[in-house]
Amino acid sequence: MNRPVMEGLRLNVPAYVKHQRLVAWVAEIAALTEARDVYWCDGSQDEYDRLCQQLVDAGTFRKLNPAKRPNSYLAWSDPTDVARVEDRTFICTPDKADAGPTNNWMDPAEMRELLQTGDKALFKGSMRGRTLYVVPFSMGPIGSPIAHIGVELSDSPYVAVNMRIMTRMGRAVLDVLGDDGEFVPCVHTVGAPLEAGQADVSWPCNKIKYIVHYPQTREIWSYGSGYGGNALLGKKCFALRIASTMGRDQGWLAEHMLILGVTSPEGKKHHVAAAFPSACGKTNFAMLIPPQGFDGWKVTTIGDDIAWIKPAKDGRLYAINPEAGYFGVAPGTNAQTNPNCMASLNRDVIFTNVALTDDGDVWWEGMTDTGPSHLIDWQGQDWTPEIAKSTGAKAAHPNARFTVAATNNPALDAEWDNPAGVPIDAFIFGGRRSTTVPLVTEARDWVEGVYMAATMGSETTAAAAGQQGVVRRDPFAMLPFMGYNMSDYFQHWLALGAKLAESGASLPKIFCVNWFRKGADGKFVWPGYGENMRVLKWMLERVEGQGQGVDHAFGTSPRYEDLNWQGLAFTPEQFHTVTHISHEDWAAELKLHDDLFSQLAHKLPAELRDTKAKIESRLAKAG
Ligand code: GTP
Ligand code: SPV
Ligand code: MN
Repeated sequence: MNRPVMEGLRLNVPAYVKHQRLVAWVAEIAALTEARDVYWCDGSQDEYDRLCQQLVDAGTFRKLNPAKRPNSYLAWSDPTDVARVEDRTFICTPDKADAGPTNNWMDPAEMRELLQTGDKALFKGSMRGRTLYVVPFSMGPIGSPIAHIGVELSDSPYVAVNMRIMTRMGRAVLDVLGDDGEFVPCVHTVGAPLEAGQADVSWPCNKIKYIVHYPQTREIWSYGSGYGGNALLGKKCFALRIASTMGRDQGWLAEHMLILGVTSPEGKKHHVAAAFPSACGKTNFAMLIPPQGFDGWKVTTIGDDIAWIKPAKDGRLYAINPEAGYFGVAPGTNAQTNPNCMASLNRDVIFTNVALTDDGDVWWEGMTDTGPSHLIDWQGQDWTPEIAKSTGAKAAHPNARFTVAATNNPALDAEWDNPAGVPIDAFIFGGRRSTTVPLVTEARDWVEGVYMAATMGSETTAAAAGQQGVVRRDPFAMLPFMGYNMSDYFQHWLALGAKLAESGASLPKIFCVNWFRKGADGKFVWPGYGENMRVLKWMLERVEGQGQGVDHAFGTSPRYEDLNWQGLAFTPEQFHTVTHISHEDWAAELKLHDDLFSQLAHKLPAELRDTKAKIESRLAKAG
């Protein structure tokens, strides 16, 4: 350890911290990064308010008009640090095959040299001139047997305040850890050390970025970004990438899924978990308000992004939401499409990369039809509807987000915090596809469902850096979040299904949906949002063994007359547009399945190849 640095450094360990291994690790990272000092987050409201004020003083936050949006802040990031960086995300396993062909891989020793031990190791001195925040957090209710604890060491106070909303964070977590509890160590730096006298910028970051996972030792190291899933390490890095490997080893699932409850007018409640890729509708579906024609139906939110799912003694799968807040997409959210979300955002929100109104409030594309007559956009520039028209300038970045506590959600499910979770009746998988994939299809059995999920494609969105609108395979909506070999993950799902079936349990049904087919005019044909209830109700009828449908090459789908259309003018012709199956399109689609299967060939479960052969022969017969 670097003695001179250690002597000058104040670790500031609070008296309540009893965990010597934790303290030693904090000292080690503080020495490596040469942090100026150390601050241990207690998670209190007082601390949150103080850190927010500090961020205001530093120019990172703007306090919004309290008369419009009490206790809320707006941050604008560096324009180069606006989304997850998938090509800079690494799974470092000793054996490359364990990371699998869909992940970026580097040998752990090589990566450690690059980040920690080499002469020019990136973390060496990376926190110079900055405070190291110790952020203890629990994924899942504090102290519950299903929860897992992490400690994030970050030089970003923006991360600390966001983590307080997104997780159960602070002193209570250290109390549970006691003097020897297990935690996942997460190290995060924005990679922008300050030399003596150097002025800070409002959003420090580095153009070099590394989002690194060591599944074997359950460690996370993140360098260079302050944004979202790159920096709030409890979310994608821990609750999906690391947790998926824990689930593989321990017989459970960590999934990129919302969890919702649906209560019928008769009071019967079902629970559904749905995986859609990033920016493809999870938050919106989780907060759905049933439309006209669905009197007495109620949808409640358990989670909007991540589900941990475990088999219980009764043979059913129970899901919990490990998070405590929502880091949701702002653009497109409005009082018509998602009133529950808008109500959640009335107060106590951190907005990132939305536009600022002249009266100190926020705006984003899609909040209202036309924007206010003047705004300051997310890059600090004047914005008017006229400027937008002539230059195409966006007021908000397409991946602009809000951070808000789950408890702000008026539709929050009473069981959202229950450590036992909720029993899952159906899984839904859905991509963003302007063509090819029909509105809804039910898999005839678990294996066919796993096939559907495994081969799902989706158009890329602004949630990740890179080209947008390109169709790519996104198995289980987990492509960017898988902590191990994708083929092993398919096998894990198949094995879990087989095990549950063996125990005599009835498995959740599996469906595939697509809200995003477009017509010849380039517009979405399906109205989406609350109207998705019409499809959801059909799925639940199928779960109950009641709904009608027709069998086709990939599964079972409803006919027009099988859905409730009360309160919506949607013609059979429009229905045809969102449901018809083009054999030509599907011949091309199956070639893309082939490409995926050859990429994953090394360990691909035989059942998936068999399922594909069956689909092809059914298609040929129907053709
Ligand atoms: P992540 O937080 O990135 O994982 O995204 P998400 O899956 O939660 O997506 P979200 O619900 O935030 O929706 C992303 C975008 O899709 C927003 O602009 C929504 O307005 C839009 N969207 C959501 N649901 C629908 C729908 O049913 N139809 C249409 N056309 N758009 C939708
Ligand atoms: C996603 O991209 O799926 C998100 C946002 O939920 S982030 O937390 O940045 O990963
Ligand atoms: Mn997500």
